[in-house]
This record gives sequence, structure tokens and C-alpha cells, in this order.
Amino acid sequence: MVVKTPPMGWNSWNTFGPNINEALIRETADVMVDSGLAAAGYNYLVIDDCWSEKFRDEQGRLVASAEKFPNGMKAVADYVHSKGLKFGMYSCAGIFTCARYPSSYGYEFIDADTFASWGVDFLKYDYCNKPAGIPGHLLYKRMGTALANCGRDILFSACSWGADETHKWVKSTGAHMWRSTGDIVDNWESIKNLTNRQIELQPYNGNGCFNDMDMLVVGMHGKGNVGVGGCTEVEYRTHFTIWAFFNSPLMIGCDIRNMSEETKSILMDKDIIAVNQDPAGRQPYQAIAHPDYPVWAKHMDNGDIVLAYFNLGEHNFNQFVTWADIGIERSSGVKLELTDLWSKQNLGIFDTGIEFGAVEPHGCRILRCRVVRG
Ligand code: GLA
Repeated sequence: MVVKTPPMGWNSWNTFGPNINEALIRETADVMVDSGLAAAGYNYLVIDDCWSEKFRDEQGRLVASAEKFPNGMKAVADYVHSKGLKFGMYSCAGIFTCARYPSSYGYEFIDADTFASWGVDFLKYDYCNKPAGIPGHLLYKRMGTALANCGRDILFSACSWGADETHKWVKSTGAHMWRSTGDIVDNWESIKNLTNRQIELQPYNGNGCFNDMDMLVVGMHGKGNVGVGGCTEVEYRTHFTIWAFFNSPLMIGCDIRNMSEETKSILMDKDIIAVNQDPAGRQPYQAIAHPDYPVWAKHMDNGDIVLAYFNLGEHNFNQFVTWADIGIERSSGVKLELTDLWSKQNLGIFDTGIEFGAVEPHGCRILRCRVVRG
């Protein structure tokens, strides 16, 4: 199975943590379709940690919690599939999951077969409580091999948080996306930290196995499992823009049953999603490297270039970028026609560069630039 664009969907962890059950998952599946999220591309519904009993059955298989999922996981998967969505689950490479539920170490092939028999399409695979002495790359290879031989296409989402130099080995394991950061929480500090951590990891990003910056906190407003403080709407919009621009999987983490219009308009912006889902999946790079006021660029499949200015600092700050910074020399006579992707305004044709203007702290501007030949 080859994954060509960053996966999109919803994951239970950020808002619900251990408080998950069949009714919540069914309602969430309904809303994914009815709200337009599925049509916008969000098609994986993923149940994170805390879904199982604390014991395996007599055949050594994982068992869904009878209290949370009384009809078993196959029934949940069938419902999710009946809505036209894909179904994701969670396990871990260690002896216990991060929340100390049974985990897949030593049971990789049995668990992959169980997930396949339930109709699972996506497996998030965590890195807690791993046995001493076995390198991470082997733990992920075990499950990667089991998934590739379970008879079903299951997207393999590695979640070792970038630990143990994950970037050096993760693509050899069969992973289709890999957590290149620690856990997100719902505040600006966290968004800024995770963003800065990505600068050195962009060389490892791209088609087939995408850098995963963790689930989105857009629309959480400080509520739920990782709701530590909350963000402003400006910060949520910048967070979404960064994740989309950096080719991160877009996994929604808020309670989508109660989304505000503002949250919907951020999560479903088709121009920003198109930047994320570009078929080329090229690595973004810094056109202007600055710790607080960086300008990033990404070259798109159709020849356009996307420029993104992220104000990570605490002051209004005007940045300037020249076309020479992104590989277009003045002598070529080539100009760029700019569209502001959030305001939807066509800004016209620019000869040699663009001033972004005084972007507010924690704000951003993202411009799609069409090459105009002289
Ligand atoms: C780790 C992962 C999180 C989440 C929790 C569940 O911390 O990084 O994304 O899956 O475990 O316990």
C-alpha cells in the first residue's frame, strides 16, 4: 500500500482521552458526513488509546471493552464503513499502551489479523513501555511486516514522537506517516514548539511517509483531554495553516458535534487543504530563516509556488521576500501572480518580490503564486 497524500480524519484522543464509547463514535461518524468534513477529505475516523479490556482472550486476542463497545469493534467498523468512512484504531509497540492497556509487543501478527478481521483501515502505533534491549526500528518492523501480511490494506501510523532518531529508520518499517513531534496540547506555546522542531526534519518529509505533527487542536477552546489553555481563532488558523503547509496528516481533535462556524471555516478551507493534499508532496523550505518571523516556500505539482509567512513572535512584523529567494532570477523576466489563500483576494502580478505587511503576532499569510512568463 502506498499513501500518496497526507491522511485526513478525526482522532478521539485530544478531546475524549479514555472517555470513548460506541455512541460517541457513531455520532462522530454521522457528523463527519453531515457537516461536510468527509466531503472536504476527512475520511479516517480513529479510536485512540483505552478502547480494550485489560486482558486478552484465550486465543491471545485483544478484546474490545464490553462497557464502552458492547457490540464489539466489528460492529463499530461496519457502522463507520456504512457512512463511507474508513476506520482507524490504536495499539502500541510496548508491553502496555501509554495508558497501560494491553499492547502488541509479542502479539504483532495476532493483533494485525484481529484488526483486519474487524475491518480496520488505519493503525496508530505508539511507543510507550517498550521492552529494554530491542531497538525501536525492529519493534516497528515487526508490526509493519504483520500489517503488510494481514490480508487487508491498513495504513500504518507510527507514533514514536521522533524518539531514538525515528527519522533515520522509520521509512524502512513500512510506516505511512510518523510522529515527528512530542504530544500537542491546546495552546500557542505547544504549536510554536512543534513547528520549530520540524525545521530540521523537513528533509525526511514527503510522499509515501509524511511527518505527522500530531492531531489538530483547532476548535478545542481549552476543553477536553489536552485542552490546556486554549488558543485564539487567529492562533487556530495559523496552526492549521502550518500543519497543512508542512504536509502533516490533518487529524481533527476537537468535538466535531459542537463545532463553531469559525472552526468549520478553518478546517474546511479548500484552498488550504489543496496545499496539504498537493500530489507532489514536496518538502517545504525556509525562504527567510528567522526564529520568530520565518517565510516558508513549497513548490507545487502544477508549477505554482506557495509562500507562507508565520508570525511566531510577539510583535507586528513585516517580512519581505524576493523571487530570487525561491529560485527565480530577475534576468529570467518571470513574474508571479499572487492569490491570498485566506482572504481569497487576487493581489495581482509582482515583478521581483512581495512585502507581507504587518502581520499580527501568531498570525500568518499564505499566498499561492502562479508563474507568469514574460
Ligand atoms: C501517547 C501518544 C498520544 C496518545 C496517547 C494515548 O502519548 O503520543 O498521541 O495516543 O499516547 O495514551
